[in-house]
Amino acid sequence: MSVHAPPPATGRQYSIQDLQGFADRGEKFAMLTAYDYTSAQMLEDADIPIILVGDSLGMVMLGYDSTVPVTMDEMIHHTKAVRRGNGRAVIIGDMPFGSYQGDQDTAVANAVRFLKDGGATGVKLEGPRVELTRRLVDMGVPVLAHLGLTPQSVNQLGGYKVQGRDEETAHRMVTDAKALEAAGAFGLVLEAVPSAVGKDVTEALSIPTIGIGAGGDTTGQVLVFQDFLGMTKGRLPRFVKPYANLREQVVAAAKTFASEVSSGAYPGPEHQY
Ligand code: KIV
Repeated sequence: MSVHAPPPATGRQYSIQDLQGFADRGEKFAMLTAYDYTSAQMLEDADIPIILVGDSLGMVMLGYDSTVPVTMDEMIHHTKAVRRGNGRAVIIGDMPFGSYQGDQDTAVANAVRFLKDGGATGVKLEGPRVELTRRLVDMGVPVLAHLGLTPQSVNQLGGYKVQGRDEETAHRMVTDAKALEAAGAFGLVLEAVPSAVGKDVTEALSIPTIGIGAGGDTTGQVLVFQDFLGMTKGRLPRFVKPYANLREQVVAAAKTFASEVSSGAYPGPEHQY
């Protein structure tokens, strides 16, 4: 039984090999998160080659105060919707907290669900999960690694803090990144690290690095959908650049709608049967 939309008849379907091609040619690429059908369609129209169904959905879609409570069922539900909206991008399902840190057989079964049930191309794992990465890649599951600030460990890290500021942790990040590359990861997300660390890690690897607050030298850059569109309420991290102001526009549109309903201006004759 197929739960996924067929790829569109025209247009290029991206693969993890295309992402490696960007890195090999020294070309930069954009990744964005998406969590639903409509936004996935828009990112297809924008020709974004890789989408992350991030566990950040717990915070921006579901209102949790961290990514820790996110479940596998929630992730699969949103991954399916994204795949239905986008047949072209590489779609990565973010394995949620608790779904891969225990025994490896459970982790493998959860990763397989992302591909079989969710329609994802591959999965993302936070932290230096070298053995699990090797096992998944051997089975044919593409793995995107994630180092630096790993939000699922927020309770351990004591907050959302920049990582790799001292020489020892920066050096360990390079070592971990190389081990993940050797285990077969097709790419590496680097979150909230000094630009110099982003550069060092990128130069130490052949696979693409994708930065979020990791400076300008990573192969790719990723932002959270709500952040890059200016939908997020409150203070944004320093690395976020909003490319639109949708929160203000939506609030203004909702107010105009409400006032036109109350005045009777809507619906006009052209909106009626
Ligand atoms: O969950 C997420 O959106 C992420 C990105 C911030 C990389 O992990």
